[in-house]
Amino acid sequence: MHKLAVIVPSLRKNSINRKLAEALAALGREQFSFEFVKLEALPFFNEDLENDLPAAVVEMKKTVAAADGVLIVTPEYNRSFPAVLKNALDWGSRPYGKGVWAGKRTASVGMSPGAVGTAVCQSQLRSVLGFLGAAQMTSPEICLLYTPDFFAADGSIATERTRAFLASFLAAFAAWIAGKAPSGR
Ligand SMILES: Cc1cc2nc3c(=O)[nH]c(=O)nc-3n(C[C@H](O)[C@H](O)[C@H](O)COP(=O)(O)O)c2cc1C
Repeated sequence: MHKLAVIVPSLRKNSINRKLAEALAALGREQFSFEFVKLEALPFFNEDLENDLPAAVVEMKKTVAAADGVLIVTPEYNRSFPAVLKNALDWGSRPYGKGVWAGKRTASVGMSPGAVGTAVCQSQLRSVLGFLGAAQMTSPEICLLYTPDFFAADGSIATERTRAFLASFLAAFAAWIAGKAPSGR
């Protein structure tokens, strides 16, 4: 059983990415425990606060540090990833030498109502995670197209084929965290 920290950088109540993250948590409950990282209370990064970190930052860093892996379920904003996520990445990287990202096993997923949604955002995210020294499961890539019938009434993923695809993604993440080579082409 691996411990996953889940980051959903959408603060809105009806976020489709939060719904997706919750569906993934239900789908992967036999392989993982899931803890959602609290992003709402994080202030904007301010280097002046680095030596007396705000409580919300301490809590976020603790959750990430204690996790075997981090699952990022992100919207795309203007062909990049949301500032809320960059803010969390920046806080988690400081103070210098005391960051939580280096060596952390990460995977990302994103959903958008736009056809190529989240591909660019995830690609940009990979470059930042690379700089931070995070380990990244880059394959399989998951960019999901949201349609109003994507979720069933109970919040699960409505289509069996998509559900199976996402279950295989979670299984690949669990195997990779356990040390197996990632899948790819
Ligand atoms: C500021 C902003 C920028 C957006 N830019 C993009 C974009 O670049 N690509 C895209 O596919 N969707 C974009 N969208 C639409 C989002 O994919 C859509 O609002 C989605 O529901 C946001 O995710 P959430 O429901 O998890 O909050 C944008 C939305 C907002 C609010």
